[in-house]
Amino acid sequence: MKVLVLGGDGYLGWPTAMKLSKAGHQVMAVDNYLRRRLCREESVEPLWEVPELRARARIWRELSGREVEVRIGDLTDWNFVANIFQSFKPDALVHYAEQPAAPYSMLNRAAASLTLNNNLNVTLNMIYAVRQFAPSCHIVKLGTMGEYGTPNIDIEEGWIEIEHKGRKDRFLFPRQAGSLYHTTKIMDTDLLWLYVRTWGLRVTDLMQGPVYGLETDETQGNEELYPFLNYDEIFGTVLNRFVVQAVAGYPLTVYGAGGQTRGFLNIKDTLNCIQLSLETPAAQGELRVFNQFTETFNVNELAERVVKVGRQLGMDVVVKSVANPRKEVERHYYNPAHTGLLSLGLKPNFLTDEVLARLMQIVLRYRNRIDPQKFLQNVKWT
Ligand SMILES: NC(=O)c1ccc[n+]([C@@H]2O[C@H](COP(=O)([O-])OP(=O)(O)OC[C@H]3O[C@@H](n4cnc5c(N)ncnc54)[C@H](O)[C@@H]3O)[C@@H](O)[C@H]2O)c1
Repeated sequence: MKVLVLGGDGYLGWPTAMKLSKAGHQVMAVDNYLRRRLCREESVEPLWEVPELRARARIWRELSGREVEVRIGDLTDWNFVANIFQSFKPDALVHYAEQPAAPYSMLNRAAASLTLNNNLNVTLNMIYAVRQFAPSCHIVKLGTMGEYGTPNIDIEEGWIEIEHKGRKDRFLFPRQAGSLYHTTKIMDTDLLWLYVRTWGLRVTDLMQGPVYGLETDETQGNEELYPFLNYDEIFGTVLNRFVVQAVAGYPLTVYGAGGQTRGFLNIKDTLNCIQLSLETPAAQGELRVFNQFTETFNVNELAERVVKVGRQLGMDVVVKSVANPRKEVERHYYNPAHTGLLSLGLKPNFLTDEVLARLMQIVLRYRNRIDPQKFLQNVKWT
């Protein structure tokens, strides 16, 4: 297949490009380095410098003999998007190209506006380009489990049947986000659903939980092919952040009571889910939704796991509860369904002590680059 990876420079985008290229697909990766720019502007650069996209594509070509085409440009720019679709004519695309950090979206008005405009306009341009230039292209879109929030009922896989006053209908499962970023993801889903109904697009919307890890089958120990690792409070996801804090001898910063529960997955499983979704596509005119995670943990449980493995590696790891900068429920019911991807054949890579130890050992090599000032950024929701 010809697969476009939108956001191909990102934490998930580059590993996905390598994975699909190795699987024999023809891949084009597109990015405008927005993520790199925002990290620079907020002084929260990742733990190591990552080569730019063209350099990574060159390293990958030398290692694998396979080509990943690269285009640098802004996907909110219609002419750029139209040009890409006309020349590449994708059979499928993976849409990662958004501002993905909840804390960034809550920073101030300008950051909120950037997040809203960027995320919705990329999605809208992509929808129009598919309709105009590649109507049977399968859109695989990254959503987030955060779209559902933490309701006091079981979370279904995308859809729910409601019986009301003796009549029944099927609806998107109710959504209730905890940040502006998550709200843009809900709006994306609404846009996609509108155009699936109206224009018969074929879409898989993946409600993904927080991802951890660095190594994938394609990196083969080549550190230049690792994705970037943010460990700050704005762009770093929780487990990656705890690992770097542990290595730095900095307390693991648990927000509030630490009972916040989420569905997590290894970066290897993100790639497997994407590949399974692409190779078993949604039907034309279908919005297919999968909940993309493999196991649930609350924040205290994650911290305990990092303490245990860190101590086994001789580190002095402690946990500290800090005032929660977010507005969120700190103890709650959480029971989301996640059978769709398993039934497509996903074989989960669970968070074992070995997996955690391996991640810590990689971070240890960069220990002298950790800047503890970056851990707490004081981004408050209220
Ligand atoms: N990483 C996670 O834990 C996680 C969890 C759930 C959902 N997601 C979703 O997965 C997707 C990828 O996440 P990630 O962690 O790889 O984020 P990321 O920021 O590393 O990757 C997104 C990439 O898209 C690019 N981009 C953004 N706007 C663009 C534009 N207008 N034009 C061109 N390129 C643009 C960025 O420069 C960046 O390289 C996001 O949509 C995110 O919301 C991620």
